[in-house]
Amino acid sequence: MEKAKFIWMDGKFLPWDEAKVHILTHTLHYGNGVFEGTRAYQTEKGLAIFRLRDHTKRLLNSAKIVKIDVPYSLEELEKVQIELLRKNGFKNNVYIRPIIFLGYGKMGLYHIGAPVQVAVASWEWGTYLGEEGLEKGIRVKISSFSRNSVKSTFGKAKVVANYLNSQMAKYEAIEAGYEEALLLDEEGFVAEGSGECFFIVRDGVLITPPNDNSLESITQATVIELAKDRGIPVERRRITRDEVYIADEAFFTGTAAEITPIREVDGRVIGNGKRGEMTTQLQADYFDVVYGRNPKYHHYLTFI
Ligand SMILES: Cc1ncc(COP(=O)(O)O)c(C=O)c1O
Repeated sequence: MEKAKFIWMDGKFLPWDEAKVHILTHTLHYGNGVFEGTRAYQTEKGLAIFRLRDHTKRLLNSAKIVKIDVPYSLEELEKVQIELLRKNGFKNNVYIRPIIFLGYGKMGLYHIGAPVQVAVASWEWGTYLGEEGLEKGIRVKISSFSRNSVKSTFGKAKVVANYLNSQMAKYEAIEAGYEEALLLDEEGFVAEGSGECFFIVRDGVLITPPNDNSLESITQATVIELAKDRGIPVERRRITRDEVYIADEAFFTGTAAEITPIREVDGRVIGNGKRGEMTTQLQADYFDVVYGRNPKYHHYLTFI
């Protein structure tokens, strides 16, 4: 990771190396903290954050779900992210990581009363699953882990604790020689990737599961809009493992992963084993939107 000049923390812009926490930080021990992952792209008119409002709203919703009272408003948090990018003077595309966590001062599981801390870091970041992955597609393993049960955890909250499940699934997939994990829910239907939502194409229809057991992905919502613009029929319904194997195309969506084609799942080649036609089209459309080349979606961009 490339260091940037500043990180914003609890109201101040600190030099990168000075944004530190105490070892008894509550979140570090008990896993209650919420975060976001947002990207900013170098457009022709300069750096622009993609869907800043939606990401910031989701951050505050995540905090609400896990009973963390945030001492900043939506507008204040948006302003901080814009200011931070200005101060860091980035030359390339950027990833933004706001985090709201419980700090030092109280131990024990009852978290009410623990100090709430807020920080935003940002750094220059390229592709998450590799340039080659974006072009040629990746190899995916269906995880032996089920996605966190909605009976016990909150899939709509981007909460720190959820990512143990993601981390273990990702580790397992990589150790087995794959690039990413696809997690099923406890009934065996596709939930999501370790940090992405999932789509397949069958007979010209774009299919993605409802967000019953996944984050409400902002990239997924954008792709659905773009598909509708092209007149592509979209279905939101459950997908089983065997249907994944016989899909014509498959891809992941996420802020980090962008639109990453999937060329193989569990040793089964998907379609012709290359980035599919519809995937190629939607990927190009997505990059047009984030790079400001589609005026219809300029409202999703916040210029720095
Ligand atoms: C578990 C999980 N699912 C899905 C996504 C994709 O969401 P988005 O498109 O809003 O980045 C992410 C990434 O934030 C994630 O961590």
